[in-house]
Amino acid sequence: MSTKAFKIAVLPGDGIGVEIVPQGIKALDAVANKLGISFEYNEALVGGAAIDAVGTPLPKETLELSLASDAVFFGAVGGAKWDNLQPVSMRPEPGGLFPLRKSLGAYANLRPVVVFESLTSASSLKADRLEGGLDILFVRELTGGIYFGKPKERREIDGEVVAIDTCSYSDFEIRRIAHMAFLQARRRSGIVHSIDKANVMETSRLWREVVTEVAEQYPDVKLTHMLADNCGMQLLRNPKQFDVILADNLFGDLLTDEAAMLAGSLGMLPSASIGEQHGGLYEPIHGSAPDIAGQDIANPIATILTAAMMLRYACDCPDGAVMIRCAVESVLNEGYRSSDIATEYSNVVSCSKMGDLIADKILQD
Ligand code: IPM
Ligand code: MG
Repeated sequence: MSTKAFKIAVLPGDGIGVEIVPQGIKALDAVANKLGISFEYNEALVGGAAIDAVGTPLPKETLELSLASDAVFFGAVGGAKWDNLQPVSMRPEPGGLFPLRKSLGAYANLRPVVVFESLTSASSLKADRLEGGLDILFVRELTGGIYFGKPKERREIDGEVVAIDTCSYSDFEIRRIAHMAFLQARRRSGIVHSIDKANVMETSRLWREVVTEVAEQYPDVKLTHMLADNCGMQLLRNPKQFDVILADNLFGDLLTDEAAMLAGSLGMLPSASIGEQHGGLYEPIHGSAPDIAGQDIANPIATILTAAMMLRYACDCPDGAVMIRCAVESVLNEGYRSSDIATEYSNVVSCSKMGDLIADKILQD
């Protein structure tokens, strides 16, 4: 591990983003204190906050800072206030988050779904389906597919308004994300389920061909192709059959929200978006949750676990990642809960209190 200060671009964004990101920073500071490493944080505007302040969702300074940093620690963007801006590229997601992902080359979005034992009862599934724990890693392609395909527009055709989204994937894009999934599986239980709709979509047929070809280089990993609708069902029927789930941008988005409920809440799932050139973009999988913003009741655990992923992937500090994970586990074992995962026996705490408890636990251990 290096002794230099890691340069972290901090982009809280909108809604609960500004509440959860500081909790992640508390955990990082606690790790820094324990391990004698240091972080240089530089905060910048993104999303609606940036639109309000400077008129654009991804200001040049934010992009430059992000590119010049070792990692980007991101909260969430979006909200009703900016949903109808024209052109669409002026809105927080298409104009802020997507170009940031693309510019950082963060094509591989790793989303672990881990069920903490103390939260089994918070899961939407019956406890017996989760017995012995659950540990799935989604590998979602993040910079291609229907999110980015052109044309993406509206046209008038024969007097009707027609909206067009294009899903396109090159063999190169599929190959690199497939390699990522197989490499991850190799370090885990050696099983990859590759998700597509090869019965419907041409991009899925190419996806299946390329993934099959890549699999030949990983004879130690077992590959199964699964249709996306079936995967949605299998996640609820028997989630323990999965180890690594490889999916394109859209299927990965849908299935990870579903899988979050296995872990008890959308507020539990972290993610790391990595590529070849840059240390990556680190964001919880949930959005800005305008409905609960400003009340200090959001669950910061997804963001705190995201900080752990940043330590692992961008800062070469797996020890720090383990420290954060253990602290989260201990605090949950002690019965503390944010309201989204609470039961009648829980000690419900605010977002900032949860952040304090986890940081204190890191410092004590
Ligand atoms: C996610 C989110 C984003 C996405 C939204 C906020 C545009 O749902 O990261 O999963 O669809 O990629
Ligand atoms: Mg999503």
